This record gives sequence, C-alpha cells and structure tokens, in this order.
Amino acid sequence: MKEELDNILNEARKIIEEINSENSLENFRIRFLGRKGLLKEILDKIVKLEEKERRELGEYFNYVKNEIEKLYEVAKERIITSKKEIKFDIHHPGEKIRKGHIHILNQAIKEIKEIFMKLGFDIERGRELVTEYENFDSLNIPPNHPSRDLWDTLWLKFEDKNNKYLLRTHTSAHQVEVLKNKPLPIRVVIPGKVFRHEATDQRHEIQFHQLEGLAVGEHADLRELKGVLKIFFKEFFGTELEVIFRTSYFPFTEPSVEIDLECVLCKGKGCNVCKNSGYLEIAGAGMIHPFVLKEAGIDTNKYFGYAFGLGIERIIMLRHNINDVRLFNSGDLRFIKQF
Ligand code: PHE
Repeated sequence: MKEELDNILNEARKIIEEINSENSLENFRIRFLGRKGLLKEILDKIVKLEEKERRELGEYFNYVKNEIEKLYEVAKERIITSKKEIKFDIHHPGEKIRKGHIHILNQAIKEIKEIFMKLGFDIERGRELVTEYENFDSLNIPPNHPSRDLWDTLWLKFEDKNNKYLLRTHTSAHQVEVLKNKPLPIRVVIPGKVFRHEATDQRHEIQFHQLEGLAVGEHADLRELKGVLKIFFKEFFGTELEVIFRTSYFPFTEPSVEIDLECVLCKGKGCNVCKNSGYLEIAGAGMIHPFVLKEAGIDTNKYFGYAFGLGIERIIMLRHNINDVRLFNSGDLRFIKQF
C-alpha cells in the first residue's frame, strides 16, 4: 500500500506540471484530494488494517496528502497570478479613457485671439482686481462724475493709503497701462473677465467676458476699426455681416460709437432676437480720448488711436443660438457637452 501511495504522489507531481487552467486544477483536486478521490480510497483501506500497520501507513499517508496539498496550493497561486498578468497583456484592447474638454467660453476666446493675431494684434493679459484709478480716473471718469453710475461696481472692503480696489467693471481698465508700456505703433487685444453688481437675467450676469481692443498708430482711425471688425466677424461667424456705427457716449472716447452688427440669425430681416431691428448691439468703441493718451504719456499732436470693447458671451450666444447667458457659468453638463 506504501507503493500505491508512492505511485499516487508521483502521478500528482507529474500531472501538476501540465496544469494551466482553473478547470484542470479543479479536476486535479477532485482526482487526488476529493471526497471520492484516490487518497480517500486508500484511507478507507488503511483504517481497516491492524493497529501497528495502520499507524505506520497512516503517518506515511499524512505525508503524501500533505505533499499533494502543497502541490495544489502552489499551482493555484501560479494560475491566479498568470491570470492577473493577462490584464497587462499589451495586445488586449484598451478601455476608453473618459476625458473632459475645454469649455465653450475658453474655446471661443482662443479662437478670437487667433483671429486678432492674424490681423496683427498682440494679446495682453490684465488682472481681475484693479485700482480705482485704473478702472475710472485714468479713463477720464473722476470721483463723483455721474458716468461712474454706468458701471455697477463691486468694491473690495480692503483699501490702502493710496488705492481703493475693485473687480474691474470693464477691460478698459488696462488701457493706460498698456498704452504706457508698449512701443508705438500699438495694436493689442485684452480678453478677460469683468464684474458688475447687478441683477441677473437671460442677458445679464454679474460676471462676463470682454475683449478690449486698442490701436495707436498711423492708420488707427474708425475706418480701420470698421474694417478690422468686419473681417473679425466674418471669420468668427463664417459669413459676411454688415457693421454699423451709431453715435454714443463714453468718457474715454471721443467721438464714441456703439457698434451694431447685422443680426446673425435673421440676416437683417428682423426677428425676436434683434427685436425686429435687424441689428444687434455688440460693442462700444470710439477714438481714444486725448485725456487717456496724455495719461499714458503719448503726444496727442502726433498720435491718435481707437478702442473698442466687445462682449464675448454675446457673440458666442449669437453664433450658437444660446438664449441664456447664465448657462455659461451653470456647470450644467447638458450645456457644456454640446460644444
Ligand atoms: N468699456 C466699455 C464698456 O464696458 C466699452 C468700451 C471700450 C467703449 C472701449 C469704448 C472703448 O461698456
């Protein structure tokens, strides 16, 4: 019977080498260690033996059973790890990685900057936090001047000896700084977020984006501005649209104009978006006021230039037929995923 046990052990050692699946391992277990397996068969015989023989063979039986159990455990470990390795198989098709994308606002700002760069404009970055001087005084808006009421301002509680601070109400806050620091001739655009203290509705948000344009140099007159904007709108909307100037008032431009764009949706025929006028108010602009040029140290006898401020959300809303400006900041994925 000892011989029989040896044969079983030898067979187990041989078979185990070839085992490479959970199925064949299970068959191994059933054949050798199972309740009706080879070892059980022998055990049934051993228990029937005389005491002395039974004890001797019993010990040997335990040794063989132990060995076979070890073989089984080692093979099990091997099969589990090789299964794990399959997960790193380079031939295995990968799982699709879910990634986000750039928000429509930033996509459009990038596009707008690229169009203006092609037209010879540099890009400048401003700051969201500016001084009272930058936002108002430098732009010919002295304290207590009624035109300050045009901007619903968010002031900071913090102020120091020299300055009061606020969230810029318009990107014009950077006009003097840019005019002062850049060599002439100047052609720049400054995109950025601006803030106003006002009630929100479909067309108004307390924060939105503007694009400031500034040009000082030989041909920097309103005629050039009209041409630049016509090309810009054509690139941005993919179709030629009429641009008209309507007289207006800003303290930092003289003369000042309001820029109207032929309604993108009805092509000037009149619809509910343009309130049947065929045109949409899209930007403020004008020739830079001599006060501002002087503030920047530019000789007003030699130089002149134009400035404009364009509402970025507004032109995106027109291009994509978006009817509520509040959607931009809503974080609503149903909106964001459309672009
Ligand atoms: N800063 C003005 C506004 O926010 C727009 C503007 C910019 C007007 C430049 C004239 C020149 O309303």
